[in-house]
Parts: sequence; structure tokens; C-alpha cells
Amino acid sequence: MPVSMDELVRLCKARGFVYPSAEIYGGFRSTYDYGPLGVLMARNVKDAWWRSMVQMRREVVGLDAAVLSSPKIWEASGHLQNFTDPLVDCKACKMRWRADELPLAAKKPSPGEAEPSGQMVPTCPNCGGQDFTGARPFNLMFKTFVGPVEDEGAVAYLRPETAQGHFVNFANVVQTEHLVPPFGTAQIGKSFRNEITPGNFVFRTREFEQMELEYYVPPADADRWFEYWCNERFSWYVRLGIPKEMLRLRPHTKEELSHYSSATVDIEFAFPWGWGELEGIANRTDYDLKAHSAASGQALEYYDPASGERYVPYVIEPAAGVARAMMAFLIAGYTSDEVAGERRTLLRLHPRIAPFQVAVLPLSKKENLVSLAQEVLALLQPVAMCDYDETRSIGRRYRRQDEIGTPLCVTVDFGSLEDKAVTVRDRDSTLQERVPLDRLAEVVAARLAW
Ligand code: GAP
Repeated sequence: MPVSMDELVRLCKARGFVYPSAEIYGGFRSTYDYGPLGVLMARNVKDAWWRSMVQMRREVVGLDAAVLSSPKIWEASGHLQNFTDPLVDCKACKMRWRADELPLAAKKPSPGEAEPSGQMVPTCPNCGGQDFTGARPFNLMFKTFVGPVEDEGAVAYLRPETAQGHFVNFANVVQTEHLVPPFGTAQIGKSFRNEITPGNFVFRTREFEQMELEYYVPPADADRWFEYWCNERFSWYVRLGIPKEMLRLRPHTKEELSHYSSATVDIEFAFPWGWGELEGIANRTDYDLKAHSAASGQALEYYDPASGERYVPYVIEPAAGVARAMMAFLIAGYTSDEVAGERRTLLRLHPRIAPFQVAVLPLSKKENLVSLAQEVLALLQPVAMCDYDETRSIGRRYRRQDEIGTPLCVTVDFGSLEDKAVTVRDRDSTLQERVPLDRLAEVVAARLAW
């Protein structure tokens, strides 16, 4: 049975993945805080992305640009003009909505009309009203002021995407790294959007983390690289454990395309409420480099010394969100089965993604066992992220580790004091293997497939 959103939210809070922000004050407008397990998991998602995008490639380098950014960037990029959503107010309850996201429902008969017409019209999700103000463009960027004077000259924006930080550093990177297209810059960091209707837990929030690659290619090769990145990014999710059937590639219609894109494909995931975007792969053409070049007066192009040719590369951009990826891994991994006649909930998370890879569990709190268990912990900490738990019965501790997705439990029992060996239990099969302490680190590393 697929997990419901209520169950996911409950698990995330109860196990310390995600808490509502400022909960002691009644929460704060769809913002969330990541708890002890959430930070571990989010870090693993980011590390897995970084590994595949930077570590395993020669032609991609890292970048970490400022969040607080000059209005000149957003004027040139077109965001000040175009990064808007259409906003409407319900005339009955005064709630604000994105016009393009209002659900449709059968039109209620107007006074004097006997029969409903059967026509489907936008309907207020709050009160069911069907009368709205006209749509007004609403810019999603958060505006602030830098320094003590709050005037127009002090305006700055919190970036709504990390991408522009790549483009304004294009010339710096080309100069310092001597890269030849195709090459890329990779960046992970926070972005901010004043979303009109945040929701679905951490799926749409106003503060979120993005993982973006800007991949610079010769214009003639752009279509080929676009296809390459659609496939590569789709298989990244599959390699990390999401079943193919829960994913699909969906090309944007012409009307949906962002102002900078000539083609975009979304990787969508089967969320409990339906298909939702995990990541977008866009062909941004030479739009951004040309726009910044025109606005700054600096040539943002590549000079090929072999051919003597100068050109503005096209950009292929796979842009993913950390929270959405995390949600997808949690939803796809959530399952339950029966062990020894008892129902258990487990998260089948890939070892790279699971918050802890190993839990060290002494069978009892007796001092000699605890001190051996702590030696085992010290042995495994350099190899994997370890949890340590000496409370409650061993059965209940296994259940807890299953529910937070820990792939391996290492149990230290009284026999361990004699035979200098421990039991390694597998989360999914629950099979147990006796492993000598002098081989433990090696066996654990191999079982985690690292
Ligand atoms: N640079 C291109 C860009 O930002 P996007 O499709 O708007 O494209 C990329 O964002 C990814 O960032 C999305 O696929 C999603 O995973 C994540 N994202 C965007 N808005 C978000 C929000 N309000 N809350 C959480 N994640 C968001």
C-alpha cells in the first residue's frame, strides 16, 4: 500500500526527519526545519548528486555563489519582468490563489437558472466560490535592502534559482579552469520564492534547496546533450532505488516553457496526490549568457584557439530540488511486511541515502557489553554513519531502525565477549550473519556496496 501524505508527515515528525518550523508558536507559513535524521538524509541526497555530477566527471566543476544578489542580475535575466505567477482573489472568502492552479468544478447555477449547465469552472478550494478578481502578475522574488537605508539604491533580491550565480561567473570559471565545451558548473544551495500557494508538505515551500548543473555545449550539439541529461538524470533516481514505474519524463508544452527555455522535460514522480515535478531539464540556449553580456558589456563567450572561432555556448540545465528528491525516496522506500507474525514498517532506502547506514546495538546495558559495543562503534564510525542505541528490547530497537531505513544492525551479545564476533542483521531480509570483529569494517563496507 503506498504511503499517504498524513502517514509520511507523521513519520517525518515522529522520527526527526522534518518538523514544522516555529511549532511552539503555532508554525510559520509552510516553513519546515530538518531534524537530526532529516539533515543526515538531505546531506546524503546532496552528496549522491555531487558524486554523480562532479566527482565522477572530469568536465564539471563546483561553484557556490551568493544568495543575496544584485538587482542587475535579475533585470538582465528577465526575472524582474517575467518571474511571475497569475494571482487571483476569491471574491467570497478573499483568499488568494494561483489562477493556473485552481481546481475545476461544475458551475453552480446562477440565480434564476433552473439547471446546472454542466460547465466546469475554476473554484475556490477554501469556500467553493466561483467568482474571482481578474488575474494580476505577482513577482515571486523576495526583495530586501542591503545596509541601513531602505531606499531603491539598497534593493537586493534573495535568489529564486541558483542558476544565475553560474552565468555571472561564466568568464571567471573559463579563465581559471581552462575548460573546453562541453563543460559544466555544479552548485547546491538555497533558493527563495514567495510562492502564492505553498503546500504538499515540503514539496512547495518558500525556502528550499536546489541542485543545479549548467552544462555549456556547442550550439550544434545542444539537442544531443539535452537528451543525454534527460536519460542520465532519470537513471540517477532509478540507481538510488526509485522504481521506474514511479517516474516519468514529461515534456513541457509551449505555453508552459519558462521565458529562457526552448525545450524543457520534467522528471515527475508518482506522489500520493498524483504526478509531481522532481526535476526539470531545460535547454536554456544562449539566452542567459547573451542577456548578461548585453547588460554588463562583458563578452561571455568561448574562444576556441584551435579553430579561431568565438561563440556563445548553449546551456543544458538539469535542475533538481533536495526536498522533493528526499520526499520521493521516502515515499518509494516506505513499505510494510510481516516478520515472525508481527507487522513492521520499513523504509527500503538505498544505503547512500539512508540517514544511518549502521546501528550498533548492545544486547544489554551490562558494562562489559556496553564497553565492547562502544569499541565496535569506534571501529565502524570511519566507515559509515552509525547510530547507537542501548535502550529497550532488541526487537523494538530493530523495529525502530527498520522504520528509519538503517540497512544494517550490528548486535553485540554476551557471546561476543567470548568469540570476538558480532551479529550483522540485514534490514530487508532480516537475515543475520556472525562476523568476526577483525573483519567487521571490511564486511560492512562491502555490504553497503561502497
Ligand atoms: N534554474 C531552473 C529552475 O529553477 P525550476 O523548475 O523552477 O527550475 C528546479 O526549479 C527544481 O527546484 C524543481 O524541479 C524542484 O525540485 C525545485 N523547486 C522549485 N521550486 C520549489 C519550491 N517552491 N519548493 C521546493 N522545491 C522547489
